[in-house]
Amino acid sequence: MQVTLGVGSWRLGVDSEAMKPPKVVFVCQECGAQAPKWMGRCNECGAWNSFVEERPASADDFGAASAGKLANRYAQFGASGSAKLYAEVDTANAVRLSSGIGEFDRVLGGGIVPGSLVLLGGEPGIGKSTLLLQAAGHFAREVGPVLYASGEESEHQIKSRGDRLGVGTAPLYLLSETCIERILEEIARLKPALVIIDSIQTVFSMKFQSAPGSIGQVREAATQFLFAAKGQNIPTVLVGHITKDGSLAGPKTLEHIVDTVLYFEGERHHSHRVVRAIKNRFGAVSELGVFEMTGTGLRPVANPSRLFLSERASGTPGSAVLCCVEGSRPLLVEVQALVSTSTYGNARRMAIGIDQNRLSLLLAVLEKRAGLSLAGDDVYVNIAGGMTIDEPAADLSVVAAVASSVRNRGLSPSTAVFGEVGLSGEIRGIPQAPLRIREALQMGFTRVVLPAANVDSSNSGPGEGECELVGVRTVGEALDELIA
Ligand code: TYD
Ligand code: MG
Repeated sequence: MQVTLGVGSWRLGVDSEAMKPPKVVFVCQECGAQAPKWMGRCNECGAWNSFVEERPASADDFGAASAGKLANRYAQFGASGSAKLYAEVDTANAVRLSSGIGEFDRVLGGGIVPGSLVLLGGEPGIGKSTLLLQAAGHFAREVGPVLYASGEESEHQIKSRGDRLGVGTAPLYLLSETCIERILEEIARLKPALVIIDSIQTVFSMKFQSAPGSIGQVREAATQFLFAAKGQNIPTVLVGHITKDGSLAGPKTLEHIVDTVLYFEGERHHSHRVVRAIKNRFGAVSELGVFEMTGTGLRPVANPSRLFLSERASGTPGSAVLCCVEGSRPLLVEVQALVSTSTYGNARRMAIGIDQNRLSLLLAVLEKRAGLSLAGDDVYVNIAGGMTIDEPAADLSVVAAVASSVRNRGLSPSTAVFGEVGLSGEIRGIPQAPLRIREALQMGFTRVVLPAANVDSSNSGPGEGECELVGVRTVGEALDELIA
């Protein structure tokens, strides 16, 4: 009897607790999963030690006593709440605004779209603040006032950097502030033509008790800026930190909220930087902008192929020139390979700038289909200049560079290659061949080794007159053509 009562009261306890909303929740900072108590390991994503205590938002948090007011807060996109006919939607104000930096406009798909929300991610010190301050200066001069809100640097620091970048007397407003309510007030007061938030991880809302940078704060801040951007038609750029493994810090939903995600890439030891579009609702993805970091800020590089090939020692064994395409931009890069006898028991295979698994696959094809013996050799492959290439068109250049190093014979310095290599050693056609050929021609290459399938289809393409196109069907054929 007593036992039953005990169970009954225990169940009662659970029921009454379930009816009350919990005072605090623990939120996984990796995936956003919530739990009523702290856990060492997240059940959803498996991350360790990722739970942080947060207070859930309630209607009172937004200063809205009634649900109606709360709904209003989320209804700021359009003035009228009714559906519009497709044909009647006005696209006149969909013009793009130039940031004044050609390469930056290019990654954005031709300029900044009014009312769009852009997220720029990158490692610390890569140049995010520098690029945005330069863009802000240009924008303020050409288009209208810009608000640059920074939670990382003081106004004084930003100005001393701006002096070096030649911002001058443009109507650029600096705000050293991390409280989102204050920033939104300033946006409403100044009505700027562009807002820059450096960075989203430093912004916090007074309505949440969790620390800035926590998943709840980042999500809330991004959503608030989204409403501000769409509601007042002010383009907004958010700077985002990235985590150790190279992805954007904060909730994955951040990338869904914004219109455009840009990544700043590059090696700290190289002076050039690449801005790449990962997601773009208003343009092509994997569009690329190339910059060089100089003493007076970032300088756009109009001809990146020249930069990437500038230090090439022509004719050395183990080097091949690849015509790749990033977004809509053709680029020539040098693929380097070094094959040396392994001094340890197991041979090392190292790839920088291309996928390690792709390299293993290509080496297996070389062994099996082209008769190269690599079992006792270390193989190192590198894309010169710190570029990262992930398109299959790079296959043939990797194969050529490795074979050239094995045979210790250089490729002709005026030859460029591209093509995908299949597992049976066949060379497969790839897209945008005419674009690649044109770029090679412009950079002074007179011979291009490419998939036979592309020679037929690119017959009408430009430049065959001056550029010899050598179509190949198999890896063996390609190596015969490249390394005579
Ligand atoms: P920064 O824009 O502060 O990086 P992020 O905001 O991404 O953290 O870039 C700082 C780096 O750039 C710093 O290491 C110094 C270098 N730099 C130059 O080389 N030249 C310049 O004119 C400026 C402003 C910075
Ligand atoms: Mg910065």
